[in-house]
Amino acid sequence: MRSNAYTNCFEFMFVLSKGSPRAFNPLKTKTVRQGQEMLPFNKKADGINKKTLGELKPEKTKTNIWEYAVGLGGSTSDKIAFEHPAIFPEKLAEDHILSWTNEGDVVFDPMCGSGTTCKMALKNKRSYIGCDISREYVELTKKRLETLSF
Ligand SMILES: C[S@@+](CC[C@H](N)C(=O)[O-])C[C@H]1O[C@@H](n2cnc3c(N)ncnc32)[C@H](O)[C@@H]1O
Repeated sequence: MRSNAYTNCFEFMFVLSKGSPRAFNPLKTKTVRQGQEMLPFNKKADGINKKTLGELKPEKTKTNIWEYAVGLGGSTSDKIAFEHPAIFPEKLAEDHILSWTNEGDVVFDPMCGSGTTCKMALKNKRSYIGCDISREYVELTKKRLETLSF
């Protein structure tokens, strides 16, 4: 909590590419309502909504605000990952991998920590390269990846 400003409740994730992104597979979410409904059309300045029966879409593209559970069972159920003090939620890594790469691509995490990105790359049929300045965390990543079965 901060005493002189609102508490930050989100973090930015920057997606950078050389030229246009080579892949973009937009993630979808289920819409709140499905099926048929009376939908407004031909809205004019008279403020009257004419309505017609229409089909609601079953899903829509996600917005750019993504929410994740954290902690054991939220970020991951791999207890070993918590030997690192600052892990990503697996789902966050997975959502980026699915959005910006295709099967068979190579995912590089130069600061792989506990190996979350490497794990999600493997799970989603991508290759991975993981590095970390800390030998301890490289060993942790190796140990974590050894125990996986998808
Ligand atoms: C926030 S952690 C990454 C956690 C990872 N996403 C996970 O889920 O486990 C950042 C990592 O960057 C590593 N790091 C910091 N500076 C580095 C550098 N110059 N080169 C490589 N790794 C670095 C740290 O050792 C730390 O493990």
